[in-house]
Amino acid sequence: MSTEQQPALVLLAPGGRRPELREALREFGRVFEADRPERVRQLVRQEHPDLVVLYMDGSDEILALCAELDQALGTKAVVIGTDANFATMRAAMQAGARDYLAEPIATEELQAAIARLVQGERRAHRGRVVTVFGTKGGVGKSTLAANLAVVLADRQRQRVALVDLDLEFGCAATLFGARPSLTIVDVCRRSGALNLSMVEEVLTRSTHSSVEILAAPTTPDLAAFVDGEGKREPDRNYVQEILRVLRSSYDWVIVDTAVDFGEAVITALDEAERVLFVTTPDVPALQNSAKGLDILLERLGYPQEKLQVVLNRGNAGIGLNGDEIAKVLDHPIQFHLPSDGDVAVRAANLGVPLVRLRGRSALARAIAKVGASLVETRDRSHRVSALGAK
Ligand SMILES: Nc1ncnc2c1ncn2[C@@H]1O[C@H](COP(=O)(O)OP(=O)(O)O)[C@@H](O)[C@H]1O
Ligand SMILES: [Mg+2]
Repeated sequence: MSTEQQPALVLLAPGGRRPELREALREFGRVFEADRPERVRQLVRQEHPDLVVLYMDGSDEILALCAELDQALGTKAVVIGTDANFATMRAAMQAGARDYLAEPIATEELQAAIARLVQGERRAHRGRVVTVFGTKGGVGKSTLAANLAVVLADRQRQRVALVDLDLEFGCAATLFGARPSLTIVDVCRRSGALNLSMVEEVLTRSTHSSVEILAAPTTPDLAAFVDGEGKREPDRNYVQEILRVLRSSYDWVIVDTAVDFGEAVITALDEAERVLFVTTPDVPALQNSAKGLDILLERLGYPQEKLQVVLNRGNAGIGLNGDEIAKVLDHPIQFHLPSDGDVAVRAANLGVPLVRLRGRSALARAIAKVGASLVETRDRSHRVSALGAK
């Protein structure tokens, strides 16, 4: 896909073998060559390669580097070795290598192995898009989206972008006390294909969290530049391009939405691996939610597993219990967030995410659970796809 970065490989090999390997690897994307381990470390930090190819001719230094890449630098390596004995292969795998390829290795065989490994790494590293949606205003979508982003970024140590697709009245940045000078509109006005740095340039940062925010337009009329008649190129879907660019670099892209089925929101729902559908236990919200869930499942055809219902303020006490609500919605409730106006409203008024302001409150802990569950599900699917790649 044109908007995603090409794969990058780092190659460490002795001078004699390097030109041939470089040629064989070139078809996968950008190849950065190193002549010594220190250069590999530098390149890994600068270029964030998909895979490192290490040539081993006898020295244990390569295995130590392989283990360091895996454990300290979060990058996988494949080892090519001159030695076909089992002990060497096993040592490489124990050092965290994705595979060990013994010389002599034919170009096609090498390319097939690299293709499989790069694809596996890309699948594992692709960031997840989580769209927070609901078919009623005021149910807590923005509160959940912002605080979930903080939980993932600061407690789970993930790289997180928060995208505000409530294009007319979004206030995600306000929940962080930030006043964005650049917004999503500034990305959509650029000419040519979007790339990561164009999007990164307009992200808003705050002092309260490492979450990076793509802010909504500053006034409602500007929304049309993003997904309406004001688009610079009418046939482009800017929201899709932005989400794909962000997911190629961020671990998580959390999307806050408005209550509508316009292009921006539908795109965010389509692109998402997970939709968190927020509702509250009042009859109007539940009625709209039942309709909304029906549209997502029947008309948009999403699988049940893509949707998780979040019941916000479920303990506020209006006579409907969780089971009755699940029945009305015809969908199980995955997460419960308690009602706590003192925490939620105070945090919003101060411009400090509630999970930071009152991290030990029941509401903050409930949001932290949602974050932990997302990470756990992703890690489980990585383990499964890693097994499949072997
Ligand atoms: N669990 C909660 N307890 C108390 N107040 C809440 C809770 N969740 C959200 N709120 C408050 O409800 C209002 C609407 O929340 P918001 O997240 O903006 O909803 P939405 O984005 O769905 O319109 C805000 O004032 C917010 O602080
Ligand atoms: Mg909102």
